[in-house]
Amino acid sequence: MNLFLAVNIYIPIIIVGLLMTITVLLILAGMLLGGNKEKTLTINNDKVIHVKGEDSLLNILSNNKIFIPSACGGKATCGFCKVQVLEGGGEVKPMELPFLSPQEKKDNVRLSCQVKVNEDIKISIPESLLYAKEYTCEVTNIDDLTYDIKLVRFKFINPETMEFKPGQYAQLKVPGIDIIRAYSIASNPKITHEIELIIRMVPKGKATTFVHRALELGDKVIVTGPYGSFYLREDSNRDIVCIAGGSGKAPIRSILYFLKDQGMPRKVKYFFGARSKRDLYYTE
Ligand code: FES
Repeated sequence: MNLFLAVNIYIPIIIVGLLMTITVLLILAGMLLGGNKEKTLTINNDKVIHVKGEDSLLNILSNNKIFIPSACGGKATCGFCKVQVLEGGGEVKPMELPFLSPQEKKDNVRLSCQVKVNEDIKISIPESLLYAKEYTCEVTNIDDLTYDIKLVRFKFINPETMEFKPGQYAQLKVPGIDIIRAYSIASNPKITHEIELIIRMVPKGKATTFVHRALELGDKVIVTGPYGSFYLREDSNRDIVCIAGGSGKAPIRSILYFLKDQGMPRKVKYFFGARSKRDLYYTE
């Protein structure tokens, strides 16, 4: 075998061998440095979760039935999954920075989808998030409100009821693809066995295309919630001005239902913006 042929045959084999050796060494180093060691995740200085292996904080919380808002499914594009990290969690990643205010940076607020739990970690989350649950639901009604907006009703199967405040939102998991989207709850909070979401078709939007083109009556889907601090404060008697357009009417509808049931104790002015007549709905 001449030298040129030998070089062409053996060098690729040597390179592949080296890469495999480095990979094995990296895995072993990761295991030795704690990847396989049990870690503790402490929430609000109270609840302790024992963590094996390495995963994102968001996934670990979700696997332990603590559902943090996560409309982008962990891709660091929604900024919803914030938690305050009190200890551990490593350095803030560049993709987190656009979502954090100066105060949040000072308080070490992090996007939980970007925090790898490879050491003991302590976090603080609002108590209300501990009450968000995952619900199996059945689609019981789909109404066309306009050419690109649908009202979809989801009946809770397991668990059977959701308590929410007027103005809060829920997240819908699109079956078959790893997509989660947040939608304001449009229904009356006194009805707890089902919720209604108003969903506008977004061109090329995977979740809204699923809802508008594929979702059918009787389908079973997963919803999590309730979430959000945008809700009606009941301890105030101030007048209210609501301004919305498109599917933004959803939380206002829920707030108005609630106030109507209370005998309208507060004055409400409601402005709805639309580009054309065909974008109007619920006008009576
Ligand atoms: S889940 Fe969207 S930014 Fe973390």
